[in-house]
Formats: sequence, structure tokens, C-alpha cells
Amino acid sequence: MLFRKFLEDRRSTREYKDMIIEKDKMDMLVDFSSKIENSHGNEDISFIFYEDGKKIYKNLKGVAGYAGVMIESPHYIGIQTNNEDDITFLKSSYAMETLLTKIYQMDLGSCWINVMDTPYDSKKILFNGDNKHINYIVAVGYPKNPNRLSEISNSDGLENEDVGYLNTIRPFKEKKYFVEKSTSSRLAVSDIVFENEFGNKMSQEDLDKRGLDELFYYIRYAPSDKNEQPWRFILKNDSADLAIIDPEDKNNLTDAGIMMYYFEEMAKSIGYKGSWEFSESKLQNKNGINYLVVGKYKL
Ligand SMILES: Cc1cc2nc3c(=O)[nH]c(=O)nc-3n(C[C@H](O)[C@H](O)[C@H](O)COP(=O)(O)O)c2cc1C
Repeated sequence: MLFRKFLEDRRSTREYKDMIIEKDKMDMLVDFSSKIENSHGNEDISFIFYEDGKKIYKNLKGVAGYAGVMIESPHYIGIQTNNEDDITFLKSSYAMETLLTKIYQMDLGSCWINVMDTPYDSKKILFNGDNKHINYIVAVGYPKNPNRLSEISNSDGLENEDVGYLNTIRPFKEKKYFVEKSTSSRLAVSDIVFENEFGNKMSQEDLDKRGLDELFYYIRYAPSDKNEQPWRFILKNDSADLAIIDPEDKNNLTDAGIMMYYFEEMAKSIGYKGSWEFSESKLQNKNGINYLVVGKYKL
């Protein structure tokens, strides 16, 4: 699979066929998820498979997802952690997105569902053990209409919400790869990539010269909570720092972990072999914008 094509094509699926996933496929997913759990550094993370989707939907309808709009699917997978420190947020979403890429390769659809603010009593059905945390589950199943843009069909609860973030328009008119002004649901490359310092715009020429234009073009298609795209990159001579804006919102750390996964995979496809090192940095402020550097990737 061409990773760039995968990134451009991937989108959240919010409507599913009423059809369960075959046992052999499910077993493969469970096996793959155990491998992720057993990888070095993932000791605090576990996946939970909820095969009886109907039961989960019934319990979470009205209290999970954006404005309580729960997505109905035949199965769900939760990501459970032993703590809620910043690194665990980063690692758990990296792990989940690794699994979701596998899911996509099996022609299945998925959509993250935010249960961070769902009251404990409503979501206790999800847990597998005491003193654990579950802030996200994902819906998984066969997409009802694989070619249609995703939207929430049951929009009860979203009447007063600005649902622009559910728009998944893809940038057919964008001039690849340096995007100065975005015509899609994603920010422009020039809005997320800075040179040496946060906020310092990078020119198309400089990005081209470093051969990184394609990388930054495609990774913008990473999913993010409410499509807020909080990731920013500070490009240095021999490395890239990943920063997130508004780090007090823990969802932004989740989005950063997803981005770390896509960045590594996309970088691999253009010949880099690195991986992110987590940074222990302090909250910084530039022109009134709070940001936190969460990782470094050697280029
Ligand atoms: C951490 C996270 C939480 C999300 N939570 C929800 C959710 O609760 N409900 C929902 O409909 N979509 C949710 N999404 C999906 C995003 O809205 C979606 O990724 C974004 O709008 C971009 O659209 P796309 O994935 O189709 O490219 C979530 C995504 C992420 C990464």
C-alpha cells in the first residue's frame, strides 16, 4: 500500500452496515492488537474489544461522542490506560492509530469516539479492571457506503453545534505539495510548518530543498478531535520538533500521538528511518498562543 494514498483516502466512517466482522478477521485484529500491547513502552496500554456493539451503543447513546451523538457500529474497540500522564496520551493514540491502519487495510471503516467527558456511571460498562482510564473508543465495521463522505446521520444533539469539522472535503484543487492556502478541510502546510522557531513561516523553496514538501502535505490528513489539527512542526537543521497548541486540552495530546504515527510511516516511505523521542518541555507562549513541544524526530 502506498502510504501517501492511504493518508489521502482515509476518513472517518460514521455509518455502518448491520453486519458483524468475520471471526477470522476479528482474530487477526486481536492478534495484531496484542503485538502492539506487548511492544516495548506500551506496558500501560491495553485494547478492549467489544464484540456486542448493540449493548455498547445502547449504554452510550446520548452521552458519548460529540454533543452526545454516539456512532452506531457492530463493534467497538476501547483504549484503556493505567494512568493519564502526557506520555501515556501520546503512546495510546499512537498505538490505536497503528491498529486502525490495519483495520483500514481489511476494508473496514472506523471512527474515534470521544468518551473523555462521558460520566463514569455511563461508561463503566467499558472497563476491564479497576483504577483504569478510557477516554476514547473507536467504532469499527463495514462502511455502509464506502464512497460517501462521512457525516453523522443521526444529528440529534448537534443542532446548535458548528459541525464544520465533520466536513472531510479532499483537496482536489490544491496545487501539490506546498499548500499556502488550503482548499480542503485541512490547514495549509504553511500554517503548520515553521522554520527554527514557532510561528516563523517557512518558504516553499526551503521546504522543497529539504525534500520534505510531500511529507508535510500528506500528514495533514491525520484525523484529529473535532478536526482541530493542533499539530505544529518546528523544522531545525537536523530535526523536527512536534508541538501542539493549547496543550491544556488533553485531546490535543491524543492528536499529537496520532500525528507521530503518521509522520513516522510517511517519513519511512520517503527513506527516513527515525522515530519520535518524547520531549519533556515546558509550556511556551508566542504571540498569545500557548504551545508545548512534545517530541523530536531526527532528520
Ligand atoms: C481523538 C479523536 C476523537 C474523535 N472523536 C469523535 C467523536 O466523538 N465523534 C465523531 O463523530 N468523530 C470523532 N472524531 C473524528 C474526527 O471528527 C475526524 O477525524 C475529523 O473531523 C477529520 O475527518 P476525517 O477523519 O474524516 O478525515 C475524533 C477523532 C479523533 C482523532
